[in-house]
Amino acid sequence: MDRRYRKTIIAGNWKMNITPSEAKKLTTALLPLSAVKDTSIVLCVPAIDITTVKRTLRQTRIAVGGQNCHFESKGAFTGEISPEMLIDAGAKYVIIGHSERRSMFGDTDEIVRKKIASAIAAGLRPILCVGETEEQRKQGVTEEIIRVQIKSAVYGLSADDFRKIVVAYEPIWAIGTGNTATPEDANEVCKLIRTCLRELYGARPSRSISILYGGSMNEKNAKALLAMPHIDGGLIGGASLKPDAFAAIVEASKA
Ligand code: PGA
Repeated sequence: MDRRYRKTIIAGNWKMNITPSEAKKLTTALLPLSAVKDTSIVLCVPAIDITTVKRTLRQTRIAVGGQNCHFESKGAFTGEISPEMLIDAGAKYVIIGHSERRSMFGDTDEIVRKKIASAIAAGLRPILCVGETEEQRKQGVTEEIIRVQIKSAVYGLSADDFRKIVVAYEPIWAIGTGNTATPEDANEVCKLIRTCLRELYGARPSRSISILYGGSMNEKNAKALLAMPHIDGGLIGGASLKPDAFAAIVEASKA
């Protein structure tokens, strides 16, 4: 973490877990975290939970996020949710391009680009996820894959809009597997992401972008990962469903 230039962010990704009635209980258990000053905390929850979570968090510093959105603002897209709807329900952030969306729901780099642009236009802060598969890492093409994902996602974004994004490096082989990347490996890819952003937008704007690590981050490994200079926080799946584990990760992120 380098707090001189950028925010430390710990974001929970509940995925398709927690019903609206369970959401109130889990969120209430997390309320003490609103006392934490140096870290921005975000709960990315199922869209149907957003209003409940937002209501439970009122008057706290903890923000709410969605986990996906459509790139159109309205229309005949049965089952989809627009960025404007997320904003109106109380979300401030939205995860875009999570590997589960890419691999199971057809989110291509081009769709990710369109979603990033519309999310920002609606006033959301997108958390752009990128990451390589185990096979790609073995083949030594991690750098190429990450560069393509980053460059196509921000293609056409103005310098002002670019400042609204958060990036999450999530190696696919580490998500939900218990195989966390080593702090050094994760740091190296986060550094590469910043280099790529610097080439596109220059040193100052890219210095201010928070780059998170995600993939089996938990209460045991968080401190070592967050100690790395290019890792500015975490995107937490499994451990975000356990209040004690999530609180311990937030604790590990303190200055
Ligand atoms: P995990 O998920 O922490 O359960 O590995 C992270 C993510 O998919 O965002």
